[in-house]
Amino acid sequence: MIDIISKYKNKRVLVTGHTGFKGSWMSLWLSQLGAKVIGYSLEPPTSPSLFEAIGLKKQITHIIADINDQKRLDAVFKKYRPQVVFHLAAQPLVRLSYKSPVSTYQTNVMGTVNVLEAVRKTKSVRACLVVTSDKCYENKEWIYGYRESDPMGGYDPYSSSKGCAELVVSAYRNSFFAPKEYGKAHSVSLASARSGNIIGGGDWGEDRLVPDCVRALSKNKTIMIRNPYATRPWQYVLEPLSGYLLLGGRMLEDAVAFSGPWNFGPSSNEALPVKDIVKLVLSCWGDGKYKIERGRKAHEAHLLQLDASKAHKLLGWKSVYSMNEKMTRTVNWYKKFYDNMGKSALLRQTSEDIDQYVKRISVLD
Ligand SMILES: NC(=O)c1ccc[n+]([C@@H]2O[C@H](COP(=O)([O-])OP(=O)(O)OC[C@H]3O[C@@H](n4cnc5c(N)ncnc54)[C@H](O)[C@@H]3O)[C@@H](O)[C@H]2O)c1
Repeated sequence: MIDIISKYKNKRVLVTGHTGFKGSWMSLWLSQLGAKVIGYSLEPPTSPSLFEAIGLKKQITHIIADINDQKRLDAVFKKYRPQVVFHLAAQPLVRLSYKSPVSTYQTNVMGTVNVLEAVRKTKSVRACLVVTSDKCYENKEWIYGYRESDPMGGYDPYSSSKGCAELVVSAYRNSFFAPKEYGKAHSVSLASARSGNIIGGGDWGEDRLVPDCVRALSKNKTIMIRNPYATRPWQYVLEPLSGYLLLGGRMLEDAVAFSGPWNFGPSSNEALPVKDIVKLVLSCWGDGKYKIERGRKAHEAHLLQLDASKAHKLLGWKSVYSMNEKMTRTVNWYKKFYDNMGKSALLRQTSEDIDQYVKRISVLD
């Protein structure tokens, strides 16, 4: 893994969604690896945000623009000539997708089309990874994990927009970036990545469990939970991101073998009910209370797990932290933020979290 991710040194890497939770961690990690990062996004979706909290603007080329603006997207691709593209920009919230289905589909589906169009027009791009979600699958409430070959679906607008984005990627791969035409008609490796619910410092997304807990705890309020028994796989933010970096690096080495869809989910014993997660947050925070909220709920899928055998076998990717360790690191990050550490100290802390993760992976290499 270490050999592969070190290949980003001096590479021009365009990250969409760099002002968001995962995009900020990804951009920081890439810049630590020596990549020249070009971030293309709207303003941070929350306040506070990880992007602002660590002063990421100073570490990378920072562009505020809409992925629905094809002209601007093309101009940025033309100017910066990225070699690798990580497409993370999205409207990522299920509940918001019920309120704003049109803009959710616009950004998540047509935004993905726009990014792929920009890739088509830009000769420098060698690898493009589109980030979707475990929710892209048709959820059959199975007890076993979904495989990359399972059908796309999605009950709510967000989930189905991610299923649609996957279909778009697949159609572009068949039509414009076909592995059998690689080196003849084009020189792009195109892949998609599906991961589960993510935890980590610096997420303040609305209606997300750990951010909701931390928001309440930081104000000494009771945590309200909606679906205590809904089971989800929980990952630490650097786990899927290490998968994206590993996959992107492999795509640069072997464009044909590594194109296609990939699951980056935790093992089945890391899937926990919401209530257990809340108890874990409370024990890491040190005090606080929770209460189960009654009333009408939006539909939420009860069981969703990914089968990540393909990533384990072909990429050597694995999750390295126990659930306790994931939560301890996550809650510690928020505690430091609420202790008003300041931007440079938080940047150091966030970089150290990445270094420690890399050290842990190196032991397993
Ligand atoms: N966080 C999770 O638990 C999780 C789980 C599975 C998949 N994902 C996926 O990972 C990606 C990143 O998620 P996140 O949690 O960091 O989300 P986030 O809301 O923190 O960040 C979203 C980013 O997209 C940008 N964006 C939104 N609309 C845009 C537009 N029209 N034009 C340009 N930029 C736009 C925002 O400015 C922000 O930078 C998304 O594709 C999401 O669907 C997230």
